[in-house]
Amino acid sequence: MTTYQALESVKTEEGNILSVVEKNIDELPDGDLLIKVSYSSLNYKDAMSASGMPGVTRNYPHTPGIDAVGEVDTSSNNNFKEGDKVIVTGYDLGMNTAGGFGQYIRVPAEWATLLPNGLSENESMSLGTAGLTAGLSVHALETYRGNQGFEGTKSIVTGATGGVGSIALMLLSKLNSEVTAVTGKKEQTEFLTGLGASEIILREDLQEVARKPIGKSIWDLGVDVVSGDVLTMLLTSLTPGGAVACSGLVGGPSFESSIFPFILRGNALLGIDSVEIPLDQKSQIWDRFSSDWKLDLAGLTKEVSLDGLEKEVQTILQGGQVGRIVVNLT
Ligand SMILES: NC(=O)c1ccc[n+]([C@@H]2O[C@H](COP(=O)([O-])OP(=O)(O)OC[C@H]3O[C@@H](n4cnc5c(N)ncnc54)[C@H](OP(=O)(O)O)[C@@H]3O)[C@@H](O)[C@H]2O)c1
Repeated sequence: MTTYQALESVKTEEGNILSVVEKNIDELPDGDLLIKVSYSSLNYKDAMSASGMPGVTRNYPHTPGIDAVGEVDTSSNNNFKEGDKVIVTGYDLGMNTAGGFGQYIRVPAEWATLLPNGLSENESMSLGTAGLTAGLSVHALETYRGNQGFEGTKSIVTGATGGVGSIALMLLSKLNSEVTAVTGKKEQTEFLTGLGASEIILREDLQEVARKPIGKSIWDLGVDVVSGDVLTMLLTSLTPGGAVACSGLVGGPSFESSIFPFILRGNALLGIDSVEIPLDQKSQIWDRFSSDWKLDLAGLTKEVSLDGLEKEVQTILQGGQVGRIVVNLT
């Protein structure tokens, strides 16, 4: 009987408790692919699941981890064979299905995509769902602009030191957009400049730049993970035809806007879902990250083992995340 190590979250009266435990492969759910996980990554949603926040994971004990990369151990599906390297992100992984914070997962074949040539296992998880979301956001903006590229554009990225934000910032800068980073972390100016930011605005100073209900046209494009007042301000400050891709809610689940940006400037708000979209849309983004969107992520990634994850879960919940956390399960 094969056993493996996993981070388990257990619900108690005093809140959820995390510990690394030994599990049995037979306890994993049914599925086409048994995958030996080499790396996972930490996303905001993992921290929500690990800490028992309502509306994320129903049943505990539970192993979180919405991302995993690894090798197919056993397959009952013709599209995959033993030894294939695959990426699994989103769908139900790590939500109510035991996730990537365990050395093995068992999932439906429809959740897995082959790791593209040109992307290492470690790189794929340095990106993880955060990178996929940043990529989907940039792709949505690229398509919205009629695939004319980003040269000469001005863009704004919020939650810029976090997972989605830092990768969106790097990618837009690589694609020759002039990027403004919005952050709550005064001390991370150098980090953000290193990723390619040409201007940094502190979150509390955003009101001084933007004016409600409609202000100066400043940015052509935006990638927003904050929502709330920050998204309100972004929408007042776009150039005619400009658009914001929104994916997150760290600043609250709702935001205020007038109709003016939409009817006076033809602006658009593009919603991004990285979880339930068809697999081929995810694969397309992984392919881009292995070719024309290849990024050097070493400077924004910290690697931890399962034992080091609990501390990082607390940091991300407190808004203290800087860059990406990769989980090494080898
Ligand atoms: N739609 C999707 O499919 C999808 C996929 C991935 C993530 N998300 C969502 O996107 C958001 C970001 O995810 P992530 O993994 O990038 O998280 P993250 O690594 O924790 O980054 C979030 C960043 O937002 C800023 N922030 C934190 N608390 C804030 C607050 N109260 N008000 C304003 N800004 C705050 C911080 O950056 P600064 O200090 O630099 O401002 C933080 O580093 C989350 O809401 C997540 O659930 C959605």
